[in-house]
Amino acid sequence: MTRKIGYARAHTNIALIKYWGKKDHELFLPMNSSLSLTLDAFYTDTQVIFDSSFAEDTLTINGELQPSDEINGLVRFLNVIREKEQTDLKAHVISHNIVPTAAGLASSASAYAALTGAIAQAFNWQLDHQALSRIARRGSGSATRSLFGGFVEWEMGVDDETSQAIPIDDAQWDIGMLVMILTRQKKDISSRVGMQHTVETSPFYTNWVETAAQDLKQMKAAIYRQDFQTVGELTEHSAMKMHATTFSANPPFFYFEPETIHAIRIIQALRKQGHHIYYTLDAGPNLKVLGKRSELESVRQALLEHYSSDQLILTQAGPGMRQLSADEWASLYPTREEDTSHDH
Ligand code: PMV
Repeated sequence: MTRKIGYARAHTNIALIKYWGKKDHELFLPMNSSLSLTLDAFYTDTQVIFDSSFAEDTLTINGELQPSDEINGLVRFLNVIREKEQTDLKAHVISHNIVPTAAGLASSASAYAALTGAIAQAFNWQLDHQALSRIARRGSGSATRSLFGGFVEWEMGVDDETSQAIPIDDAQWDIGMLVMILTRQKKDISSRVGMQHTVETSPFYTNWVETAAQDLKQMKAAIYRQDFQTVGELTEHSAMKMHATTFSANPPFFYFEPETIHAIRIIQALRKQGHHIYYTLDAGPNLKVLGKRSELESVRQALLEHYSSDQLILTQAGPGMRQLSADEWASLYPTREEDTSHDH
């Protein structure tokens, strides 16, 4: 009997310069390089077990076994791993998403970064975080960046070996994020489908790619000189340009809900009143507000006039992927699935 086990934790990240569009669907090579901030408050803990007695791959999230027809992405990723490792062992993946509220923010970024770390431990790979980022990329593009903490660039590269994450700055300065949960509705167009449709049909898409390179360059320079205002302005600009490619797709689609526009108006009004804040949003309706860490509590107070406190989550820069020990896992998640997991 062969049994290999590994454990890891990875935090989610929010892109300030967005990744939007693939040029290689097999390898997940992006059309443009991107840059994100890893967040403290949201992370995924994952245990992976490869066992010769398992008949199929399974995924359990927060104690719930996921339907087998909803784990195609995971199985595809595990096939990449099996090919690398020259094994046919099936895996049970047990994940816990740590999100302060039922925010619907559980992200594939932290999930695949944590899974990659757990797999590396299970197979005793001696790879650094950059090498692991190239593997996490095969699960989900944004996961590439979650291997590292702080500000992280995903260099698009030209092939499997060069498309990887690079830590830019630890973000231990006056910058943070306030996540606004506006609606808990599940998104109906995944980022994978949405980005592909815009690549194929939006006449704005070439502009997106061309201007993203320049935005990234300016963003890195602004981060290095800790120029909050420029970081904020570029963040908003990148998000709105990304979403403009969805509005201009054919047929059009978008991730905005009425609550999104309403919240943007509120952020703009607060900014007029002197708050240093900028918004961004991803393939969903919720806003993430970039602000000075020292000021975000007062922003939160101002937003409490419009939202309940469980809709407003304050967070700061978080760390990169970390492998966990079996003991750590056991104390975090006592008497869990690993003792009982078996196939029927
Ligand atoms: O890699 P995915 O499928 O999580 O796509 C991420 C797309 C955005 O969140 C919209 C942008 C980004 O860079 O994270």
